[in-house]
Amino acid sequence: MPGFEFFGDEERKEVNEVLDTGVLMRYGFDGMRKNHWKANEFEAAFAARMKSNHCQLVSSGTSALTVALASAGIGTGDEIIMPTFTFVASFESILMLGAIPVLVDIDDTLALDPQAVKNAITKKTKCIMPVHMCGSMADLKQLRAICDEYDLILLEDACQAIGGTFDNKPLGSYGDLGCFSFDYVKTITCGEGGGIITNNKQFAENADQYQDHGHDHFGNDRGAEAHNNLGYNFRISELNAAVGVAQLKKLDAILSHQKKNYSFLKDSIKNIEGITFRKVPETGVENYSFLNIFLPSQEIAENAHKALVDSGVDACFYWFKNNWHYINGWEHLKNSKSLGNISSEIKEELDKLKHRDFSQSDFWMGRTISFLVKIGWSDAELKSRTENMKSVLNEILSKKHIQ
Ligand SMILES: Cc1ncc(COP(=O)(O)O)c(C=O)c1O
Repeated sequence: MPGFEFFGDEERKEVNEVLDTGVLMRYGFDGMRKNHWKANEFEAAFAARMKSNHCQLVSSGTSALTVALASAGIGTGDEIIMPTFTFVASFESILMLGAIPVLVDIDDTLALDPQAVKNAITKKTKCIMPVHMCGSMADLKQLRAICDEYDLILLEDACQAIGGTFDNKPLGSYGDLGCFSFDYVKTITCGEGGGIITNNKQFAENADQYQDHGHDHFGNDRGAEAHNNLGYNFRISELNAAVGVAQLKKLDAILSHQKKNYSFLKDSIKNIEGITFRKVPETGVENYSFLNIFLPSQEIAENAHKALVDSGVDACFYWFKNNWHYINGWEHLKNSKSLGNISSEIKEELDKLKHRDFSQSDFWMGRTISFLVKIGWSDAELKSRTENMKSVLNEILSKKHIQ
């Protein structure tokens, strides 16, 4: 996800404006800052682009998830339903609040299976957290209906799918809250940063206060501000926000470039027998950051991935055997390995992960290969890469290999 591929004078100009004032903090120092408020500017522009009433910037995508959950009143003992295929930040943010991550199966969308979600609801469930991995989404319509039926919060993790849409709404804006990451390998980057969007005024106010030690941000004397609730420090700096101001202006150009390269790759391999594509739910539009394919079996997918890497196809991923994104690699979670004590209630739930049947997730993940779509490829590079991919996949899927 290539914000860093499209980086230059625009980002330098914004950062230099901050450096010229020397005010690196987003709050206060009004007299010194020559009217530069980069975090405020980014928040206003991001809320508008995401068709949401409010945006709160924070220090990372992981902070965004933590602050978003807290802003919705989620805490100790509450259960959050999340998928088996995601980034570790999903359970990290939940555990940080003393809440309980409940992991459930994905389906052929590579995102939460609505039926598995329904089966996992208990009296303690407070929130459903779909994660739009690799540029596409769960069936949000079904998840919304479940949330409405059981009075649950729908929190979208759109960190990997900025710019995609569902039902004509930007991903992240369909649920009660949406979270984004602007780390260095996301579609747009701040270096490190994150964002929360919502139309809920109370959640927005809570997020604003929680990410800055509970400050109510009234007036211009920070020392005199009230603290109605406890908060912590998840603030973004002006320097990071300045980079984001420039990157956001490039988002639509990045998305259209991604779509062009994605379409070229997809068209080139779509007729190879044995390849199918991840399901995109009705009314969903990907952000085209990854092309995700299914192969006929786990064994073929593993062989294909090895052959692709050996033949020089970079940035293609076999998540099933990856320590970051799939439950197979999360021994530390299953064994409740933490630097501090974890409550017995949480340990009990995590312990169940060792024995729970995730064969449905294994079925889909075992057969999935994801190809990152870069925007820096020249036409010649894209063409030669595609030819290479095509010939490896053709070779692996030839009858000889399947039998
Ligand atoms: C799906 C998902 N959620 C959350 C995060 C966390 O973002 P950050 O690295 O900014 O903390 C990531 C980062 O890779 C991610 O991919």
